[in-house]
Amino acid sequence: MRQGRARTVRHPRHVAIIMDGNGRWARARGLPRSMGHRRGVEAVRAAVRAAGELGIEYLTLFAFSSENWRRPKDEIEELLGLLKHFIRRDLADLHKEGVRVRVIGGRDDLSADIRSLLEEAENLTRDNSRQTLVIAFNYGARDEVARAVKRIAEKFAAGEVTLDALTADYLGEHMDTAGIPDPDLIIRTSGELRLSNFLLWQAAYSEFVFMPCLWPDFDRQSFEDAIAEYASRDRRFGGLSREIAS
Ligand code: FPP
Repeated sequence: MRQGRARTVRHPRHVAIIMDGNGRWARARGLPRSMGHRRGVEAVRAAVRAAGELGIEYLTLFAFSSENWRRPKDEIEELLGLLKHFIRRDLADLHKEGVRVRVIGGRDDLSADIRSLLEEAENLTRDNSRQTLVIAFNYGARDEVARAVKRIAEKFAAGEVTLDALTADYLGEHMDTAGIPDPDLIIRTSGELRLSNFLLWQAAYSEFVFMPCLWPDFDRQSFEDAIAEYASRDRRFGGLSREIAS
């Protein structure tokens, strides 16, 4: 994955994607939903490659939400199987390309084989620095906040922290995303206009781009279009617009 373009102020450092529309993509072709998810994995590979080429330092992908357990059992099995297959097949290549893998989401209720695969991916790639791929798996933002509060409560109970230290920054340091900058840009495909319990804390100042295309159709051009839309926005972070301030 080459850094094809220098990052500018208007270039996002961290892009997070809600990959939506696999089922509709399959239905439109008279195919089973599983085919949509399989094509979705191809789009994942293309997006990771494109992010590297476009100089995106952090790419977060919403692969499986804490609410996705409500889906039919066979679809859950398919999604878990695809994740396992992706890590087994692609991990060596990702490592070779200098990609660091981070996983956010609850681990405790995952099966031992998935937990150890996720740990293997993180451990093997932990010193890579070219690009970070954050996989949100069994992830829900409210769960994440609860996990962070629990971690802090444990430190508090152990006398390791005082009430005065409990700032927003301190809470951020206990989220699953500790050490990862907040997303500059959040993309959602398939035309849905929701955040769906994704990165609620980290999205405080993110720009949103909602695209009509279904996830399996998301390609390099779609990625570039979303970045161009981001570049046209005036990010103020509560301050004044560029025009007024200058
Ligand atoms: C939404 O489509 C997509 C998902 C629930 C999961 C996304 C998963 C993948 C792309 C494959 C696995 C990921 C990795 C990282 C290997 P949907 O099923 O909600 O589509 P619909 O709204 O059209 O029914």
